[in-house]
Amino acid sequence: MTRDGTGYAASGDPASMAALDAFAEDFLGYRAEIGRIVAAADADPSCALAHAWAASLWMLTETQKGRARAGRYLARAEAAAATERERLAVAHARAWAEGDSATALAVCEQSARAFPRDLVAVKFGTYHALNRGDSLALLRLPALAANANRDVAYLHGMLAFGHEQCHALAEAEASARRAMDLRADEAWAHHALAHVLLTTDRAEEGIETFRALAPTWEGRNPFIVTHNWWHYCLFLLDRDRTEEALALYDARVWALEKSWGQIQAGAVALLARLELLGVAVGDRWGALAPHLATPQQRHVEPFIDLHLVYGLARAAHPETEAVLDGIATTASTAHSATRAAWAEVALPAARALAAHARGDVEACVRDLSPTLPRMHEIGGSHAQRDLFDQILIDALLRTGRLAQAQRMLALRHAFNPRVPATKRLLDRMLTASGIVAHHRA
Ligand SMILES: [Fe+2]
Repeated sequence: MTRDGTGYAASGDPASMAALDAFAEDFLGYRAEIGRIVAAADADPSCALAHAWAASLWMLTETQKGRARAGRYLARAEAAAATERERLAVAHARAWAEGDSATALAVCEQSARAFPRDLVAVKFGTYHALNRGDSLALLRLPALAANANRDVAYLHGMLAFGHEQCHALAEAEASARRAMDLRADEAWAHHALAHVLLTTDRAEEGIETFRALAPTWEGRNPFIVTHNWWHYCLFLLDRDRTEEALALYDARVWALEKSWGQIQAGAVALLARLELLGVAVGDRWGALAPHLATPQQRHVEPFIDLHLVYGLARAAHPETEAVLDGIATTASTAHSATRAAWAEVALPAARALAAHARGDVEACVRDLSPTLPRMHEIGGSHAQRDLFDQILIDALLRTGRLAQAQRMLALRHAFNPRVPATKRLLDRMLTASGIVAHHRA
């Protein structure tokens, strides 16, 4: 039997082995050419991994269309699977296509234990871990593969993000820098380092570092390009450089690709954060909304749906209600692996976000306040979900719930004392509650 670059046996023609290696590089390195695995699968019906990965790639588009397309490749993958590694890759794609992200994650972990050099399975596992809010799994998956991949930059990039989401910031930074020593253009390690620098209040270092790294993202998958620029904008926001952030929204964050839910979510989040800082964003909500209103990206990941709702509601777009209704339907029809996240977290959060976007801050507090502690269940990173904290703080201040706002603001100030916006809000709250402002740095 033939073998791919991992050294493990794989079904298929010799030419397909090169295609499998190319996919591993495309996927782990966020290459724009990632779609070529689909053509490779079409060319070789005997290559089970090409079909399983093509099915998974269609799922990764996070669209209703992707779900439909995955089915064709899954059927062929199941027919061709001959080894245990291939059966696990197929079981992963099958579980994912059925909406069972818990099983998909568990199967990736099985693969990581049995076939640790297969970093494609590890990477897919980290995707599910992130979407399920399972920070420990996000770290455990690359940790299982660490001994087998000591000199592979991508492994250290995944370790870095896993450590960061577990709040092990020193380990996260060390792993990110190890990845970048092995490979200076490791975009996911750059991303993990961005999280570390944001969380440790090192915005100046982030701005300087990422200005230098940004050219290495050119031509990559639009998700990583726009997301890393989004992180760059967060550094700017943490230092009140809002004009530069708004210019980068136009030039980078909302410029490359406009139909992908993850990129739309980044655009919504950046505009919302700018507004929370008091910046007038002009007609950008109106320009963004038609892209958010297309049905393809709805009800696949609750994290994305929440951003669709907020952006549509800010633009007073008529599709807002349709998305809210669809979330309510999904909350009762989703696979049991995600039903609670949809029903108990996404649904009230979506109503809260729509309320905030429309100016009904009382309803926002009512629905978001009890939901916030469980927000990790709908996926996304700490940095991404911080938007929901910021929205709740805004609603708490505007409804006069100063004690609750003070608790949240004081914690933010303790962790990131150099963020002027937090200091201003603390001062505003202290002034409103009759206490002399004394939180100057
Ligand atoms: Fe991120």
